[in-house]
Amino acid sequence: MRIGVLTGGGDCPGLNAVIRAVVRKGVGTYGHEFVGFKDGWKGPLEGLTKPLGVQEVRGILPRGGTILGSSRTNPFKIEGGVERIKKNLAEMGVDALVAIGGEDTLGVATKLDELGVKVVGVPKTIDNDLNATDYTFGFDTAVNIAMEAIDRLHTTAESHHRTVVVEVMGRHAGWIALHSGLAGGANVILLPERPFDLEKVVDHVESRFRTNYSPIIVVAEGAVPAEGDMVTLGGELDAFGHVRLGGIGTWLAGQIEKRTGKEARAVVLGHTQRGGTPTAFDRVLATRFGLHAIDAVHEGDWGKMVGLSGTDIVRVPLVEATRELKTVPVEKYAEAEVLFG
Ligand code: F6P
Repeated sequence: MRIGVLTGGGDCPGLNAVIRAVVRKGVGTYGHEFVGFKDGWKGPLEGLTKPLGVQEVRGILPRGGTILGSSRTNPFKIEGGVERIKKNLAEMGVDALVAIGGEDTLGVATKLDELGVKVVGVPKTIDNDLNATDYTFGFDTAVNIAMEAIDRLHTTAESHHRTVVVEVMGRHAGWIALHSGLAGGANVILLPERPFDLEKVVDHVESRFRTNYSPIIVVAEGAVPAEGDMVTLGGELDAFGHVRLGGIGTWLAGQIEKRTGKEARAVVLGHTQRGGTPTAFDRVLATRFGLHAIDAVHEGDWGKMVGLSGTDIVRVPLVEATRELKTVPVEKYAEAEVLFG
């Protein structure tokens, strides 16, 4: 078989580890051939390719980003997009696709599968918000980066008797905030799943100051005050209808400073959470996903995504993975709440 591989949406550490595993096992065990599609769905749409063989994947396991490039191109938003993809795949002799992505990229894969394109999905995203898998790769790395930042912020906050508000990514799911906040011993953790009461946050801050510690607040970029709106960076939507989030940390630091009379600073971790080398956990998960994805392709098990269930890699229908977002359940947040204040 000749198999196309693409990476779409926001990049994350571990993408290259998947590509390597798919190609190494695909060539070495099954004798398949590969073609790399550049920049997500833009690749098959515009016929943008690059060679992808064992030589091209040497040494990429620890490297962040993606050797294939990425984009948020949505072929369903482009006139004749699906027909162009089908035509390009046929002309290039590409029999099947491995699509590595999050809800948007795999949402496209789900619809293309229904339209007869042979595709297998691999779940990636630092947000960890995909259904039908316990974890996505990239998440563990992002949490560790945020945790290390929080550890560092504790010492500078204490030296200056300040509150530090740390804004982390995750879009409409609070997984990165919850895990990094727990690991970093945050004073309060605020998630998109639960609108927060500003007065309560201020109470937690005051109580932390009373014990001579400086409060560290971890806020997810999608968190919303109970009385107020989600803070966004401009109103423009991307091709999948997402608005750019960001700014809640700065808003919250301002409110805390005003209400406590003590200095507060906001630190936005932003894309540092997505860059650089993957953790061991993410390298192993991404590699296992890649090995199992190429098995699914070899067996012609189309329309499936590989996922993690406990410690096992399983196959699930793509449609199950993208039907709804996996957000933080109430009970998990309740566990963390015991430590606030
Ligand atoms: O989905 C991954 C993610 O990093 C989100 O956490 C964040 O909201 C978004 O992508 C940022 O996207 P961009 O790369 O377009 O700034």
